[in-house]
Amino acid sequence: MKKSPHEIKIFVTRDIPAIGIGLLREGGFQVSVWSLDRPMTPEELVTEGARADAMLTLLTDRLDSNFLTRCRHLDIISQFSVGYDNINVAEATRLGIPVGYAPGAMSDATADVAFGLMIAVSRKMFYMHKTIGKGEWTYFRPKANLGIELKNKTLGIFGLGRIGLQMAMRCKGAYNMNVIYHNRKPNTAAEQTLQARLVSFEELLHESDVLSVHCALNKETQSVFNATSFSKMKPTSIFVNTARGGIHNETDLLDALNKGLIWGAGLDVTNPEPMDANHPLLSMANVAVLPHIGSATVEARNEMSRLAAVNIVEFYKHGNIPNLVNPEALLNKA
Ligand code: DGY
Repeated sequence: MKKSPHEIKIFVTRDIPAIGIGLLREGGFQVSVWSLDRPMTPEELVTEGARADAMLTLLTDRLDSNFLTRCRHLDIISQFSVGYDNINVAEATRLGIPVGYAPGAMSDATADVAFGLMIAVSRKMFYMHKTIGKGEWTYFRPKANLGIELKNKTLGIFGLGRIGLQMAMRCKGAYNMNVIYHNRKPNTAAEQTLQARLVSFEELLHESDVLSVHCALNKETQSVFNATSFSKMKPTSIFVNTARGGIHNETDLLDALNKGLIWGAGLDVTNPEPMDANHPLLSMANVAVLPHIGSATVEARNEMSRLAAVNIVEFYKHGNIPNLVNPEALLNKA
């Protein structure tokens, strides 16, 4: 028998911007929100999941097969992010649990961070900033601290979707960069508006002056940027990753930088997260690291909150999930 909203318990695993919580409460649901300022442990997730009908989750929640099996009664999981590599989607699908997500909300915000990291690395900005505090700004030195310019260079995008497109638009507009990309499927919008060219992975590595990663983390992309890939890149190139730290091998990246196989790196995501405070990448001149703030704008986080909540509201009210990862789950639902 169909439950009415006031009988439906929704658990939100972190205190997200109010707009989403408000929508759930306005929908008449019973809403509980995790109140501590830290991610939930796997045991805490199971405990709360066992009491809930639906969960609104974050990328820091590990929803593995143990969780899903023990919470197989969940009607829906909706994720406050575009990435959902923290969820065993195959298992959720098998168990008939639909997984919603929040795409599009953070495309501008994340592209801004990728673009900013690219410039910061090209001019060693994070490192130079630190030298002042260390009393190393002595006098003007004509041959020291030289960066590289970006005008007319080649931007390679690995995974040209919504965020990659925004990054490419910024690079084209600001520096008239030539855009190449590697995707499973061609992105005709990018080809028409930016004259972007689809290339093989090998060509992407060989030709990019800036190689920016914008794909999802999955079995195919896990550690795809490793010693072999870095060795094929230009010694003058900059590697930027604002997607997921698991897409690059961090030891290999450090080694590639030390050996001069590539020129610099800008990371908003590391592997693991958080990065160790003493990590050698943090003291390198040609490296800029940020603590996974790609979507950290008021606008993006509000929209992520709204989209994640709308998935749940629409599911219970009208039986559809506007942003659904695994439509097959609905067929498997008992
Ligand atoms: C996402 O949405 O996947 C982002 O990484 C969160 O900032």
